[in-house]
Amino acid sequence: MKEAGVNWTEESLSLEEQALRSTLIESGRLPRHVAIIMDGNGRWAQERMRPRIEGHRVGMDSVRDAVKTCSQVGVKYLTLYAFSTENWKRPAAEVRFLMSLLETYLRKELEELHANDVRIRTVGKTNALPKNVQRVLEGAIQQTKDNRGLTLTLALSYGARQDITRAVQMIALDVRSGKMSPEDLTEQAIAERLQTAFMPDPDLVVRTSGEMRLSNFLLWEAAYAEIYVTEQLWPDFRRPDLYRALADFACRERRFGKTSAQLAADQPPSTDRSTLQRILDAIR
Ligand code: IPE
Ligand code: IPE
Ligand code: MG
Repeated sequence: MKEAGVNWTEESLSLEEQALRSTLIESGRLPRHVAIIMDGNGRWAQERMRPRIEGHRVGMDSVRDAVKTCSQVGVKYLTLYAFSTENWKRPAAEVRFLMSLLETYLRKELEELHANDVRIRTVGKTNALPKNVQRVLEGAIQQTKDNRGLTLTLALSYGARQDITRAVQMIALDVRSGKMSPEDLTEQAIAERLQTAFMPDPDLVVRTSGEMRLSNFLLWEAAYAEIYVTEQLWPDFRRPDLYRALADFACRERRFGKTSAQLAADQPPSTDRSTLQRILDAIR
């Protein structure tokens, strides 16, 4: 049963936010899947002469903002890169802190997420996480599995190369046991064995802190994603900043290998940048 929690949809959006939301929806250019590389927590803290973990702590407020904003605007999938396979190489104390933050976030926010129809999923080698974190995650996934609002996927102990390798290994086993022939090895056969198979490919990949790299995130799935890099550090990346990324996305021309002229022939012209800019200026 859903407990009463803060209802995000009833929490009024400002007039400007409503205008942006409807302009994005009407334009048909709201990304279905937004994936975020949340980077720069350590630098945010260091700039303030604080320990790195302080950046992670404040970064959780940006996580709350991103989840709520995507849910309210109508983005269907939000994937957050929270911990990479490579992040295990960090100092043990920082890793422990990140794990405890994750546990606290889930314990504190689960009811509110559930009340707002958010479905929680994970990708990554979650059995490498501490047992208590695994238990909380399993509970959250189980409790929210029938929700139909935003799908919030946490990438935890995730590495795209590891996921692709695992998929190929599964195919090799199927070929060896005669269930599959090498000719059946299509792109689809790989895609459907990836852990991300339950969601569409990301339309928009956001990375904060100005780094121009994917750091082993969704390498297969992001083949045609629009990439948005902002200099802002993750703890500073809040609601208006996400709106800016969505508006920027809406103005992109996604050609998928075709020419602009071909696109113009089979699609309405892209959203008027000045309309979006006007709304964004009002939100700031
Ligand atoms: C992102 O911030 C959080 C994780 C990778 C878990 P960082 O901790 O990477 O912060 P910087 O990049 O060192 O500033
Ligand atoms: C990427 O950030 C991983 C996450 C955001 C979880 P990193 O800070 O680990 O990436 P690199 O090492 O600078 O590429
Ligand atoms: Mg980093």
